[in-house]
Amino acid sequence: MIERTLVMIKPDGVERNLIGKVISIFEEKGLKVIALKKVRLSKDQAKAFYIVHKERPFYEDLTNYMSSGPIVALVLEGENAIKRVREIMGATDPKEAAEGTIRKLFAIDKEKNTVHGSDSPESAAKEIPFFFSEYELIALS
Ligand code: PPS
Repeated sequence: MIERTLVMIKPDGVERNLIGKVISIFEEKGLKVIALKKVRLSKDQAKAFYIVHKERPFYEDLTNYMSSGPIVALVLEGENAIKRVREIMGATDPKEAAEGTIRKLFAIDKEKNTVHGSDSPESAAKEIPFFFSEYELIALS
């Protein structure tokens, strides 16, 4: 099944000039970049994006971090893209991430873990329109 998923290159990835390397890894695995933009989230926008985690103890830290510097948001498309992207990223904690995954290669810790990918079709359906309008998705695909 061809799916679309939302990926963010987090502030630590942008800060360390990893944008190109991260996108190359996804492209080499056959995923297509449908849309892409560099933005800086406000604290309120980060809180809205991560609202599902509002009861978690790290919600404040996570949303402070995600609004601390620019990020790159991308829509990737491909066969089973949602699950594929999660596999290519690796586990949330780089200490647990498999060899060759983006987080094993680049992540610093559970917060500064370089990439985000939608965790389900329901999340992707909310997260893609958070960053991209219908026009941006259709016109550029
Ligand atoms: S997952 O993939 O949802 O099971 O991962 P989870 O451990 O639940 O983490 C959800 C997101 O929160 C981030 N995170 C943290 N941020 C700051 N501090 C701490 N301690 C922390 N622990 C987890 C983690 O990077 C996940 O971000 P996203 O962007 O969803 O991958």
